[in-house]
Amino acid sequence: MKVVVITGSAHKKGTSAFLADKFIEGAIEAGHEVFRFDAAFEEVKPCLACEYCSTHHSNCVHKDSMGKLYTELADADMVVFSTPLYYYTMSAQIKAVMDRLHAKNAEFAGNKKAIIMASSYGDADWTMDGLDKTFDLILGYLNWEKVATLYATGCPVREVMEQKDFPQRAYELGRNVM
Ligand SMILES: Cc1cc2nc3c(=O)[nH]c(=O)nc-3n(C[C@H](O)[C@H](O)[C@H](O)COP(=O)(O)O)c2cc1C
Repeated sequence: MKVVVITGSAHKKGTSAFLADKFIEGAIEAGHEVFRFDAAFEEVKPCLACEYCSTHHSNCVHKDSMGKLYTELADADMVVFSTPLYYYTMSAQIKAVMDRLHAKNAEFAGNKKAIIMASSYGDADWTMDGLDKTFDLILGYLNWEKVATLYATGCPVREVMEQKDFPQRAYELGRNVM
């Protein structure tokens, strides 16, 4: 299976990157092909809503890092998002990637599985409700199947996450992905 992992934090050693690291470790061990896109360290310009794509064969007017991500997503079987929780939803880095899917909605719709991983400071049982609902709506729109979520609440920094079972659960998610 080909898996594209998209991360959304500027913390290279942060909590959501840690989840991605462990997921990828498991997925590679299980024999899957993984392409990782660290959105915070790529150039992803915001969608201009110019509709250039609608008259140019779904090509975006921007020429930036999304070009390589579009190529990798085209034949991906699964897309994994790993984001820090920012104001109860995904980080701006992930949102910019999402918006840029506008050019490829028709091409990418259907036939993909998705996993959402997120980390947060808060640990209330409703902490991830906004993020979860947002992804449900996005995945419904794209007709991608949400196969799993891993919500690492109560993890403001990596040192706290290291004391919990979330990294192991991310590893097992990657190891058992089908
Ligand atoms: C701009 C910003 C917004 C945040 N918003 C929330 C929030 O709404 N709820 C929450 O529980 N934590 C919030 N946090 C805390 C982060 O989600 C938490 O520290 C997370 O572990 C950071 O992940 P990272 O290490 O991958 O960057 C916020 C942090 C920042 C910097």
